[in-house]
Amino acid sequence: MKDGYTLVQILLHWLIAVLVPMQYLTGGSIERTHHAVHMGLAPDRWDILQHSVHIYTGLAIGALMAIRLLVRLISGANHLRGNVGLRTAARVLHHGFYAAIIGQATLGFVASYLWYGVAPYHVIGSWIILAMLFLHVSAAA
Ligand code: HEM
Ligand code: HEM
Repeated sequence: MKDGYTLVQILLHWLIAVLVPMQYLTGGSIERTHHAVHMGLAPDRWDILQHSVHIYTGLAIGALMAIRLLVRLISGANHLRGNVGLRTAARVLHHGFYAAIIGQATLGFVASYLWYGVAPYHVIGSWIILAMLFLHVSAAA
């Protein structure tokens, strides 16, 4: 990610790209922590730490992505290359990322603090983002 983007956009892109994998490494700890509590057992300390990392890193990702969206609206978008079909596909995927990442952080927040019933949608969201990342990294390569 270089041509046509401001330095702030590039820094935010790579900061988020480093933080998102943390969510996949730490996400499973939440289910394990809750399961232990429901069974009347003490949750693993390492799981409790990962649980906290997931919540705070996830909130940071959501906030950083919202800032990116504002910066993009102010600075404008990159001039995508390739034929019309490819440019449209890239544009759809890029817009989709803003919606998916901000939506995912919002769902996580709702599941944690307001209504746990949305948790399955957060899990589905994590698969969708994984599929989008696969397409995105393949396109970048
Ligand atoms: C969680 C991880 C990632 C997210 C959420 C993400 C999201 C995005 C978004 C939304 C854009 C478009 C920026 C805009 O027009 O406003 C973009 C551009 C780009 N990303 Fe990522 N990205 C991620 C990881 C990666 C990785 C791992 C790579 C490289 C292997 C990569 C390579 C690129 C490149 C080359 C562009 C510029 C594409 C162009 O405009 O022609 N990204 N990314
Ligand atoms: C974009 C950011 C995020 C990503 C990519 C993400 C990803 C994930 C993943 C992969 C899991 C494990 C799913 C599984 O069990 O298979 C998970 C679980 C969970 N995450 Fe996130 N997460 C994000 C942000 C957040 C935030 C901000 C919060 C709370 C403030 C949160 C709360 C939760 C909760 C409560 C679960 C447990 C759901 C369950 O097991 O049913 N997440 N997340």
